[in-house]
Amino acid sequence: MKIGILSSGGDCPGINATIRGVGKTALMHYGMEVIGIHSGFVGLLNKDIEVFNERSLSGILNLGGTILGTSREKPFRKLLASGDTEKPHIIKENYESLGLDCLVCIGGNGTQKTANLLSQLGLNIIGVPKTIDNDIWGTDITFGFDTAVNIATEAIDRLHSTASSHKRVMVVEVMGHHAGWIALYAGMAGGADVILLPELGYDIRKVNEVILDRAHRGKPYSIVVVAEGVSSPGKTRPADYITRAIEETTGIETRETVLGYIQRGGNPSPYDRNLATRLGGHATELISKGEFGRMVCMCGNNVTSTPLSDVAGKLKLVTEEHELIVQGLRMGINFGH
Ligand code: F6P
Repeated sequence: MKIGILSSGGDCPGINATIRGVGKTALMHYGMEVIGIHSGFVGLLNKDIEVFNERSLSGILNLGGTILGTSREKPFRKLLASGDTEKPHIIKENYESLGLDCLVCIGGNGTQKTANLLSQLGLNIIGVPKTIDNDIWGTDITFGFDTAVNIATEAIDRLHSTASSHKRVMVVEVMGHHAGWIALYAGMAGGADVILLPELGYDIRKVNEVILDRAHRGKPYSIVVVAEGVSSPGKTRPADYITRAIEETTGIETRETVLGYIQRGGNPSPYDRNLATRLGGHATELISKGEFGRMVCMCGNNVTSTPLSDVAGKLKLVTEEHELIVQGLRMGINFGH
């Protein structure tokens, strides 16, 4: 068999561990041929590829980013908007002329949606979920998330000492797109006093009240963790708006920190390396059995898979019943209300 691997969408720590997991299992255990496709679906449109062997997949387990490169190319975008089938056709032709028996698509929500459409077009597809946001439907966890939470937690830990020295409020904005997973996990692990998630919304008056109440109770500093997806007026960043609102209303000096791409760069955590390796290996196992049109996933601590058609177009968001929220509320942490 001959398989192709591509990574698409925003990068995240653990993609290279997945490429290695898929590729080495395919080459060494199943005797398959493996090619890497550069820059996501752009590489499939241009036949920009490289042939992988065991050596080319060595030394990449702990590397951040993706050795294949990535792009946000969505080949079905025009088709969905105006019925233009050019790109999907080119991809199908190139898949066939490259002699592929399966295409492994490593990516986030958008990529799994594209993977499902390619599968409907008759290509053999396996999806592998990746994102720091942890918002992919059908899997309990995605690699990249643990690393991002570690980075964000370390940042919050560091903000504690400077906040305490200056008796300031520190507002820290973390990534997550429309989901609040990073804010929830890093906020709780970092001992934040207020955690604002897009899923729950917030009332700025309540946030100010909490900060003032803490000050009156002799707690001279506060840490507010804000997910980038929470609402704010106009085009202001949530951290910008919330920082100004707190300082103006409470009179307490308030500073903001936006962590940005720091959360996405660098080496994957050991947990993410092993998760990526397990998912990659399972992807190759599915290919060997001819079980296509599926996304590998984690269900509890078990690696399994789910139909791509069940995943496409859905988001996995935080709910207010989440154990960390319930427990946080019991301990006096404020979630914006
Ligand atoms: O999906 C990962 C992510 O880092 C989000 O948390 C963030 O909103 C988005 O990507 C940023 O995308 P871009 O790389 O296009 O700036």
